[in-house]
Amino acid sequence: MQEGRSGVDGLKRQLKRSWLNPCFRYLLLFCLVLLVFCSSNSLSWWSSFSLKDRYPKFINPVHRPPLSRDRSKDRVQLNETTEQTTLPPTVPPKALQFHLAYPRNYHFVMDNKEVCKTKTPFLVLMVPVAPKNVAARDAIRQTWGNSSEVQGDVVLTLFMLGLYRGADVDALQEKLQQENRLHHDLIQSDFLDTYLNLTIKTMVIMDWLATRCPEAAYAMKVDSDMFLNIDNLVMMLQKPDIPKLNYLTGMLMWNRPVIRSKNSKWYVPVEMYPEPLYPTYTLGMGYVFSNDLPEKIVEASKSINYFNIEDAYVGACMKKLGLSPQSPPDPSKFKAYNTKFNRCEFSKIITYILGSPKQLVDYWNDLKRPEPPC
Ligand SMILES: *[C@@H]1O[C@H](CO)[C@@H](O)[C@H](O)[C@H]1NC(C)=O
Ligand SMILES: *[C@@H]1O[C@H](CO)[C@@H](O)[C@H](O)[C@H]1NC(C)=O
Ligand SMILES: *[C@@H]1O[C@H](CO)[C@@H](O)[C@H](O)[C@H]1NC(C)=O
Repeated sequence: MQEGRSGVDGLKRQLKRSWLNPCFRYLLLFCLVLLVFCSSNSLSWWSSFSLKDRYPKFINPVHRPPLSRDRSKDRVQLNETTEQTTLPPTVPPKALQFHLAYPRNYHFVMDNKEVCKTKTPFLVLMVPVAPKNVAARDAIRQTWGNSSEVQGDVVLTLFMLGLYRGADVDALQEKLQQENRLHHDLIQSDFLDTYLNLTIKTMVIMDWLATRCPEAAYAMKVDSDMFLNIDNLVMMLQKPDIPKLNYLTGMLMWNRPVIRSKNSKWYVPVEMYPEPLYPTYTLGMGYVFSNDLPEKIVEASKSINYFNIEDAYVGACMKKLGLSPQSPPDPSKFKAYNTKFNRCEFSKIITYILGSPKQLVDYWNDLKRPEPPC
């Protein structure tokens, strides 16, 4: 007891001494200035400067939301955006409407406006991909993205890109334009293409669907490292009991905790998203929705502040709309990680996460052999 008290007294003495210390006074003054600066800023705290400046070590080129402890597949996309993690600090666009994720803050650089006008698609596949990742795009163009007609219905595959920033930006942009002249399948908007901006990318996809392709019946956001059994997907959507409106389906995530550990790539600060759990959402690898939803989601996003977990963000917009994602008719068809290629298995599923563009081409060609898969 005695000891403890004298310890407290000692602490008090030290505090008194440090109060008089000039360094301490400067520190206090600095804090005061900082406080005044923050509270007088009319922009939201988060939109007033780049996230990357504050959380450089959380920038991670892998776009996979929390799923399990098994991260073995995360290596796969490491080359996609690594070069962008060393970008100089940037400031958000001026006169930001609502917040960073509101898609109408951005402008299309390439938008292939006419693609939905010639033939009305039943299904549009929207693939977010890093500008440099032409290998992933080419593999998709040779496989599930190559069919413009599936099970008698029109399907369209498009790639969503942000702006690349690096030394070779002009050369890359020219290459992208060439690529688009050849395939007419690139959509590019003027936000910076980085891992922490994936929510912007998803919301720009929603904006594109709402404004450039509202006549399509369904759409899917599908990652560039996915195996997609497009026939099975179209057959699922052709079933008469599949809703035509307010429908969002995929691999459902319930009661997922918001990751508060600062060294996780899915870290979201309390200031960005205060609740401890995310609303029900569909895993970002591939989710399918009726095409009335994009406009509604863009509208709802006005009041859902930016946070960097794109699939959970869409879940939050759905909740705001009073809607919830629904289980697919057969949930076992939306698969995330696979151990090994199995022809019979791949003939039955809708999604699987793959390891490389080469794997996609190999598995696809194998599956398309004439012999029955099972
Ligand atoms: C990723 O980059 C490293 C070095 O830059 C290279 O050795 C490796 O082959 C690349 N991997 C892929 C999948 O492109
Ligand atoms: C798409 O498939 C057709 C055959 O259906 C083939 O001729 C064409 O080369 C394929 N396109 C690509 C980019 O592989
Ligand atoms: C996200 O994009 C905006 C708009 O281009 C940019 O200002 C910002 O720096 C980007 N944020 C990150 C973390 O890359």
